[in-house]
Amino acid sequence: MDNFSYCSPTRYVFGKGVESQTGELTARMGCRKVLVVYGGGSARRSGLLDRVTDSLRAAGVDWVELGGIQPNPTDDRVYEGIDLCRREGVDGVLAVGGGSVIDTAKAVAGGVPYDGDFWDFWAGKAVMEIALPVGVVLTIPAAGSEGSGNSVITKLDGMHKISLRTDMALRPRFAVMNPELTFTLPPYQTASGIADMMAHIMERYFTTTDEVETTDRVAEGVLKAIITEAPRVMADPCNYQARANIMWAGTLAHNGICGCGRKEDWSSHGLEHELSALYGVTHGAGLAVVFPAWMTFMASCQPGKIAQFGRRVFNIENSGNDRTDALAAVKCLKEFFKSIGLPVTLGELGIDNPDIPLLVSKFHEDKGLPFGPYHPLYPADTEAIYRLML
Ligand code: NZQ
Ligand code: ZN
Repeated sequence: MDNFSYCSPTRYVFGKGVESQTGELTARMGCRKVLVVYGGGSARRSGLLDRVTDSLRAAGVDWVELGGIQPNPTDDRVYEGIDLCRREGVDGVLAVGGGSVIDTAKAVAGGVPYDGDFWDFWAGKAVMEIALPVGVVLTIPAAGSEGSGNSVITKLDGMHKISLRTDMALRPRFAVMNPELTFTLPPYQTASGIADMMAHIMERYFTTTDEVETTDRVAEGVLKAIITEAPRVMADPCNYQARANIMWAGTLAHNGICGCGRKEDWSSHGLEHELSALYGVTHGAGLAVVFPAWMTFMASCQPGKIAQFGRRVFNIENSGNDRTDALAAVKCLKEFFKSIGLPVTLGELGIDNPDIPLLVSKFHEDKGLPFGPYHPLYPADTEAIYRLML
């Protein structure tokens, strides 16, 4: 096990009706006037936005709004949010939505106190130490942004989708999580969220650090819970207990607990971010295509941990051959994704003619050369993995 320092400071307020506490929680983080960020319509349609603003009003917190944030959020809305906050004297940001909304809120929060271009942080030209406090009302379990210090934004100029990872600055102060708010999710979004949370665990699980049994077992436990709960939630979208278990799994998958003491990989996320930047696909659905391809490639050069994943998570019998068991694990994972209605090829994802040379060059431009702590990827490897998605 490697040395580590882990802090997850977010207060998770979980259960039925908890959104009524949003105003009080916002006031408690010291805010008098916040920017309320929300998406393309679901929060308004469900009445959630009104309940949240009622709760702010009752707690004496004023607000201004930045709505209409789209999936795979872009830098233009961040600049708009930063200007609005400065003009209105805002002292905190409240995200009401999923990863796209939360990541926009976080980027605005980091950009307001910074004199330069907020993109400097994403471009690696500056290190974010401070940000306005961020609170979250979560409406989709998927990205795990409610507990992570990350924000993923696409720069429209060049369509560069980049993940900024901060240790503390962008970790939300609180996350309000009512599983009932997720009853209205379309099946594809529910399933994509499930793939994304599984991917967050797997990016950490596939590691070259050995002797991480405790963290491995935490990761396997959450993965097994997801695999058990997923069919229940797909069959009955209003099953509160199944929704609750999936929602909490999404947070544990990405708040860092599954990565303690080891090197993490994140190649599959990098490969997917190029797909969602260029083709606008849903991030989790993209991962359902990318991860099995990456694992198939790794079965030939670094099969050990993938075989262990198959044996422990999908109960594959140990054949004594890691490569064989790694390939069996890929088969199980693909079957699972298909069973909840997800694509497992680029064609099924809606990308019929992928520009693989462009995907490969953007991946290395955005992530580095080589990239991949589990097994370093050079352009020929990256191309081979994209081809395995066809
Ligand atoms: O915009 P609205 O109308 O709200 O619709 C959204 C959107 O179309 C809809 N939705 C959300 N809650 C709903 C709902 N529809 C009905 N009922 C509800 N309760 O779902 C759609 C997807 O929303 P989005 O916020 O894009 O989903 P998600 O949470 O999957 O976020 C994806 C983004 O997060 C990034 C991804 O790359 C992508 O840009 N990620 C962020 C991470 C982080 N910050 O730590 C880590 C992840 O790996 C990921 O990369
Ligand atoms: Zn993800």
